[in-house]
Amino acid sequence: MNSEIQRRHFIKWIGMSGLYMTLPIAGCIRENEASTEVDLTSLRNVFDVEKLSKKEMGEDALLYLNDGVEDRLTLKANVEAYKKIQIRARRLIDVRNVSTGIELFGESWDSPLILSPVGYQQLFHPHGEIATAKAAAQKKHLMMVSSVANHSISTIADKTQAKLWFQLYPTTDRKITKHLLQQAENSGCKVCVLTIDHPVLGNREVGIPLLRKIMSTRKLKMGNFEGIFPDGIMPEGTSVIDPSMTWDMVGWLKENCGMKIILKGIVTKEDAALAVEYGADGIVVSNHGGRQLESNLGTIECLPEVVDEIDGRMPVMIDGGIRRGTDIFKALALGATAVCIGRPFCWGLGALGQQGVELVLDILMTELKRDMQLAGVTSIQQITKDYVRS
Ligand SMILES: Cc1cc2nc3c(=O)[nH]c(=O)nc-3n(C[C@H](O)[C@H](O)[C@H](O)COP(=O)(O)O)c2cc1C
Repeated sequence: MNSEIQRRHFIKWIGMSGLYMTLPIAGCIRENEASTEVDLTSLRNVFDVEKLSKKEMGEDALLYLNDGVEDRLTLKANVEAYKKIQIRARRLIDVRNVSTGIELFGESWDSPLILSPVGYQQLFHPHGEIATAKAAAQKKHLMMVSSVANHSISTIADKTQAKLWFQLYPTTDRKITKHLLQQAENSGCKVCVLTIDHPVLGNREVGIPLLRKIMSTRKLKMGNFEGIFPDGIMPEGTSVIDPSMTWDMVGWLKENCGMKIILKGIVTKEDAALAVEYGADGIVVSNHGGRQLESNLGTIECLPEVVDEIDGRMPVMIDGGIRRGTDIFKALALGATAVCIGRPFCWGLGALGQQGVELVLDILMTELKRDMQLAGVTSIQQITKDYVRS
């Protein structure tokens, strides 16, 4: 196929699947960590990093990253719901030594903060997922790698020391799905995170036309598909989005891979009960960061009913709207085993590459530690619902 036909084929596929991979963004062609000298001490919180990212990666990239669907009600609910919860602090406790360690599937982690799967990270920085994974490894955080990452999970595993989980968009062709699973397992992944809030693409009125507008010359690879199709381009009629997927997929995954299966996108106790019934190993309470269904509750408002239903039978993680250490504290208090962030680490990536992701992780962990001390707890396990009022 000549390259023009291939390009048109690709653009057609994007229209069909709603996913995209050729995205030229002015700021992304730089190779250095930042275009100008940056005084890191001026970056006090993740919002300062977000501002810098706009300057570094460009307004269009940030608009795409921050986008939600329709009137952004779910997106806002995710952030606003945290503000309605107050912390109940205890006094006169020796808080000189604080541990933020947790256990997840029998493995110890220094931090309860995980990097959510975010596709196409080369949109934000030329080093994309490699920079993110290096930062995750350096700061000892777990990273979930998207099916639609620009770098394949095997490349990320080869080039970095990061601990990785693989996020699966199922695809409409189970042969391709098997290939993705195999690749993840061969890369040492022990956990597959199946995204279940994405039977069709959400109505991203700004983000999708924006991407179509800016899509042209620079071609980014969709690394995980490279071994399957030339240039990672899927044939017509095949999509990473499978609207026919049902609960049986959990059993299929269990039969076809040796990884633990986590369901990302549960927001009700009914589905939490089904997750147990169908044999899932964990849950991420998530609404895709407000990029799928409009008018959802904020995820932190969904967490308690899911945690009650699960009743300790599997880990329950959460993402969506976490921007401060206090948000992490509140999610842990309401029963989350661990918490995940999406946009904030991408602001860091866009602002300063690996260094920026590390900075965001440092900022949030410093805030969390300080918040724990101020609230009178010295370990994550001590943070119970007695420490919040909603
Ligand atoms: C730009 C962008 C790309 C994303 N790509 C994926 C993806 O490939 N797979 C997935 O399961 N979730 C994806 N998500 C959703 C995130 O994993 C996560 O649920 C969400 O970002 C959490 O909300 P937060 O950004 O407010 O932290 C994406 C989110 C954003 C903002």
